[in-house]
Amino acid sequence: MDLSQLKKKVEECRVCGLCETRNNVVFGEGSVDADIMFIGEAPGQTEDETGRPFVGRAGQLFDKYLVAVGLCREQVYICNTIKCRPPKNRDPLPEEQAACLEYLREQTRIIDPKLIVCLGRIAAFRIISPDFRITRDHGVFYERKGKILTAVYHPSALLRDPRKKDDMLADMMKIKEKADELAKRS
Ligand code: URA
Repeated sequence: MDLSQLKKKVEECRVCGLCETRNNVVFGEGSVDADIMFIGEAPGQTEDETGRPFVGRAGQLFDKYLVAVGLCREQVYICNTIKCRPPKNRDPLPEEQAACLEYLREQTRIIDPKLIVCLGRIAAFRIISPDFRITRDHGVFYERKGKILTAVYHPSALLRDPRKKDDMLADMMKIKEKADELAKRS
């Protein structure tokens, strides 16, 4: 299956209850050849309205970090652990996460990034480890099945607590350096 076939499948998905309340599926966007794949939690209101990931306030802040380290959205791939907005932005339920997990796996297989960056604790919990603690473990690199995994603060956490912004910039710089190093190796 290629990315557009997977996108069509996800857009037609009715496996969990979120299909009743969504306006748009937020599949993900960016380069199919990206070395870096950023994975957030779940679409918010603006994302649900537009069908695009990370385009609300948090997303606009995230874009500034991409630019600050010399990246842009067209160069990376950005998506979420679940593709439909939970009502009132509540945390996704385990069954909603489970229903979407296979889509995320397939999306990751197709993009085949060198580096996977979880945006926030929910994605890090799902993708890196249930023991992951974002305040303790952000910016740490892990290796699994030939891929490098890491996590940074969710951009909404930076909006709530700007004191985390220095750590975010340092982590994003390390990520860019690591991506450059991995690109040179291949
Ligand atoms: N928060 C997320 O985790 N994902 C989005 O796409 C937007 C906000």
